[in-house]
Parts: sequence; C-alpha cells; structure tokens
Amino acid sequence: MRLSRELDLPLRGDEPEEEEGGWYLVLSPHDGPPGYRLELHLAGRRPQGPVSVELAAGGVAHRLRYGGGRGQDLARAAGFAPGRVPSVLDATAGLGRDTFVLAALGATVLAVERSPVIRALLENGLQRAAAVPGLDEVLARIRLVGGDAAEVMAALPEGERPDTVYLDPMYPERRKGAAVKKEMRLFRFVVGDDPDADRLLPVARHCALRRVAVKRPRLAPLLAGVEPQGRIVGRSTRFDLYAPVAEVSG
Ligand SMILES: C[S@@+](CC[C@H](N)C(=O)[O-])C[C@H]1O[C@@H](n2cnc3c(N)ncnc32)[C@H](O)[C@@H]1O
Repeated sequence: MRLSRELDLPLRGDEPEEEEGGWYLVLSPHDGPPGYRLELHLAGRRPQGPVSVELAAGGVAHRLRYGGGRGQDLARAAGFAPGRVPSVLDATAGLGRDTFVLAALGATVLAVERSPVIRALLENGLQRAAAVPGLDEVLARIRLVGGDAAEVMAALPEGERPDTVYLDPMYPERRKGAAVKKEMRLFRFVVGDDPDADRLLPVARHCALRRVAVKRPRLAPLLAGVEPQGRIVGRSTRFDLYAPVAEVSG
C-alpha cells in the first residue's frame, strides 16, 4: 500500500503484534473522502489509542467556539490585532490544532512537520475536515509540508517570509501516569522530546518579518535560554515573543 511504502512501515493483518512499547497505524473506514481515518495505536499489555486528527470535533471545535476568538492568547501571540491578520509559519505543526485554530481565525498558515507518521495523521485529518460543510475555506488557508522546519525556513524565498513564526516543540513531561493525556504519551512515543528545539529559534528570528512566538508550559525554562521581548502568560501555558533579527550582510 502507498502509505506503508511512504512511511516505510510493514503492513500487518488484523491483529498487530502485541509488542510492548510499540505502536502501529490503523486505517479505519470513514464515510467521505479520503475513505479512511488514520489512527495511531499503542501496542502492549495495556494497549492505548487510538489517536487521530479530529479538526471538526472535540477539543479543537470547542476551542473554536469558546476559545475567545482573536482575543485568545494563541491569536494575540501570533500577532492578530484589530485590523491585522498575520501570515504564520507553524514550524512544529504536530496534530495541527494550533494551525487549524489560527487558520479558522483568518491566518494563512504554512505548517511544517518533520515526523512522516505525524504528518500522515495530520494530512488525513485535513482531508476529512475538508469534507465538512463550512470548513473548506479554513482548510484552503493551510499548506502542510514535510521536512525540518529549520531547512524550510532557511530556503523560503524572500517574498514568502511569514509575519510570524510559531514554535511549539515538545517539552519533557514532568507529570506522570493518568495525568498525562493519552494523546501526549502516544505522541511522545513517535516523535520523542525534540531535544534539538533550541536551534529553531535563531533561524525563526531570521525568517519572521514581525515576530516569533514560542509556546511553553507556564514554568518551563526559556527556549535556547534566550530572554524574550514580550510574554503572554496563561493558566498553564505561556507564549514568549521575540523580535525578528535582521540578516547580517557581508
Ligand atoms: C508539541 S508538538 C506540536 C503540537 C501542535 N502545536 C498542535 O497544536 O498540535 C511538536 C511537533 O513538532 C514537530 N517538530 C519538532 N521539531 C521540528 C522541526 N525542526 N521541524 C519540523 N517539525 C518539528 C514534532 O515532530 C512534533 O510533531
């Protein structure tokens, strides 16, 4: 199958191996395009899952309805202001929730995800959401690309530089057990902890025209240890805001 080839994953039958600590993908039937829902499952004695990208329902839909619109912290951090809608490069797209909320608020978003598995989940979620009445306009504002965001940003033509680069790398989880959401645990299995996240900040500051916004747990240390010029602090999350850095010439 195409997906199995692209992701370099073996195809299994109906009963995936119960390998402790392993994960597998399932294509479950879905009414409407593309005909299946891509799901991530965790194998083992206490199997978990599935995780799939649901943009038109659940938490994301709730955030859209009650999240505070352009006044919410994410939107303010991304640079929405009265009369101003930013273009955004989401360098750590993940399951696409922040990308989707920003696009729903009107931003055009170039979303970059380096994990082929997470990208496939997101692509499938975007395809299914596109069939939901009223969401086609939002989806049209999102472009998803694969690869390392540092390379994508460095190669971006001058005319395509975004107003805002948004960074939300993984952050080592301190809470244990049930408190950690199932989704995050599965996610961590696949992508790890993004230990190289610090290197994204300087590239992002060269790429962004107006600002870089970094999402962190409220008490987490600064990305790359660099002091931000602004900060929006919420209940459990904060956004550190950095000014762009002009290209050094010569
Ligand atoms: C915490 S998640 C982002 C969650 C996302 N904001 C959301 O709303 O679903 C971080 C994601 O960034 C991706 N990532 C980390 N470093 C990256 C890089 N240099 N280039 C592209 N993707 C990266 C990881 O693979 C992971 O999927």
